[in-house]
Amino acid sequence: MTIFDIPALDDVHTAAPQLDTLPGRCVPYAMAAGEGERHELGGQLITVIARPEDTGGQFGAAYVYGGKGTETPFLAHDREHRFLFVTDGRLQVWLPGESHLLVPGDSVTVPAGTPYAYRMLAHRTRFLSWLTVGDAHRWSQATGHATQSHVFDAAAAPMSDARQSELADRFGVRFHDLEKKDLPAVTAATLPAGETPYVLEAGEGDRWASLDQLNTYLARPRNTGGTYFAMHTMGGKSAYIPRHFHREHTENFVCIEGRILLHANGREIMLTKGDFLHAPAGTIHSFAFDSHDTQMLGLLTTGVFEKFFEYMNTPTNAHVHTEGCDMQFPAEGFARARAELDLEVVGPPPARGDGR
Ligand SMILES: [Fe+2]
Repeated sequence: MTIFDIPALDDVHTAAPQLDTLPGRCVPYAMAAGEGERHELGGQLITVIARPEDTGGQFGAAYVYGGKGTETPFLAHDREHRFLFVTDGRLQVWLPGESHLLVPGDSVTVPAGTPYAYRMLAHRTRFLSWLTVGDAHRWSQATGHATQSHVFDAAAAPMSDARQSELADRFGVRFHDLEKKDLPAVTAATLPAGETPYVLEAGEGDRWASLDQLNTYLARPRNTGGTYFAMHTMGGKSAYIPRHFHREHTENFVCIEGRILLHANGREIMLTKGDFLHAPAGTIHSFAFDSHDTQMLGLLTTGVFEKFFEYMNTPTNAHVHTEGCDMQFPAEGFARARAELDLEVVGPPPARGDGR
């Protein structure tokens, strides 16, 4: 297993975020939608937006984009969890004994060792693929071929099983000879107690509300072996939060809808749909929502910051955020988070437009 270097916090504090280029070391950077290392794999365009060498070996991330009918055999990963979040189109997913139809906003959490398969059902289907190591993206990169295109090749031949299995061993990928049956979906509104595979429909999950925002845990550390958790936040225009950094965990921001302002080491970066920002431990950051209906996916590695959203919010059964509920900043919860969690506040919120 390769060990990747993680720079000292002081070095990260002062690193200007790189834009639209994979840095090759664990520093802050942002990738606009469509940017990244792209390769073609049997009719799918894989756009890698984080490799293990960009994240200190803590995860890998990519967008997978393809046309109607594109599918995979059943496969499983020896060493890594996979989390898929659908952003466009429709995706059928098979898990052991289950079949699900996913639309934008739906997600699936697949622990290591679980066989799963997918088929794209809409002409333009896209999802974010998150891996706790990044091996499966490296496998697809090694199996496919590099491309400069930003769209998938609808005329490409499907990947042959022989070609796919050739390199599978090296990247911890196992094929399973299972049949894709149309089984009834097993829907659940809550997260499982442990590391079992599950599909979560948009709007379900563990929901917490505050400050006109709705925060939903899509995966908790108990579902991922403590390696990460996934937080979906929706809300309207909001003020920047205080500038802060984390010592032990990496915060990753994906814009799902609307506009998000990110402030990272003094630079303001606007994220719109599909844009990604990596803020490793040490990055001094803040964010604000900049449009009336914004959605953000936060992927935090490891799971140490899980309680922050509980301290700052109250449980809710709502499926959308509320507007104008006149909530006060939860000062008590924030003080508790500062005392107990991996949170170092360094200053007041930045001004909008500062560092642009
Ligand atoms: Fe943060």
